Amino acid sequence: MICATDLHKRFGSLQVLGGVSLSVAPGEVIAVIGPSGSGKSTLLRCLNHLEHIDRGTIQIGGDTLAQSHGGAAAHYAPPREARRICQRMGMVFQHFNLFPHLTVLENLIEAPLTVKGLKREQVVPVAEGLLRKVGLIDKRDNYPARLSGGQKQRVAIARALAMQPDIMLFDEPTSALDPELTGEVLRTMRELAQERMTMLVVTHEMAFAREVAHRVIFMADAQIVEDRPARDFFADPHHPRARAFLEHML
Ligand SMILES: Nc1ncnc2c1ncn2[C@@H]1O[C@H](COP(=O)(O)OP(=O)(O)OP(=O)(O)O)[C@@H](O)[C@H]1O
Ligand SMILES: [Mg+2]
Repeated sequence: MICATDLHKRFGSLQVLGGVSLSVAPGEVIAVIGPSGSGKSTLLRCLNHLEHIDRGTIQIGGDTLAQSHGGAAAHYAPPREARRICQRMGMVFQHFNLFPHLTVLENLIEAPLTVKGLKREQVVPVAEGLLRKVGLIDKRDNYPARLSGGQKQRVAIARALAMQPDIMLFDEPTSALDPELTGEVLRTMRELAQERMTMLVVTHEMAFAREVAHRVIFMADAQIVEDRPARDFFADPHHPRARAFLEHML
């Protein structure tokens, strides 16, 4: 579903991805963990083209988003093609990023209407179905400001799903929430995983990573230093940075 090879990314003199490779199979749930500044968000943002990589190859569902030959700078697909490829991925951010001037329902249907050019009568029933799924159909006509953090994040998940992505990318979806609100968001994510959605989740929720993720990718200093089945990783982290991190987190 995702095949990324030898990704390099710098911000000025700072190397943020120093030759990162990963592949994700359909239905796989991967937890991306690691210390602050290790490049986790940048990795996700590069995969769905919110950031440009300097070098490397990114393939999504068999289509090439970016490609490097012989260490040359990455060459991207033309803009239309790149947009089509990236539409296969939905992204959920730490701070929800809902449109404040749109109601919950309008937040869900905005992209299907404007980006996909679908008709209102097609998208409204789908959006309502998704709101039912995340337990928020009664908030259909509310504005985001009237929702709790957990509710906002569930709307953000439903909004990403409304574009019918093949892959969902989550960047610390519960870090901005009070502890009592994280459970409802994790429950929604767990249900998605059970439906075999392909998911890449940057998270500090070690219990969630341990229970739901099939694989753990541990990043440190712009590299993936471990990429192993979650069960093995938590039982016996190999890399000293991973050991130190887990000792700190658990
Ligand atoms: N747009 C940017 N311009 C310059 N530097 C950036 C930019 N975005 C990120 N960085 C830097 O790149 C490094 C990696 O950032 P990134 O956000 O990917 O880390 P992270 O692993 O997600 O950390 P955290 O756990 O704190 O979210 C950091 O040192 C950060 O300051
Ligand atoms: Mg981050």
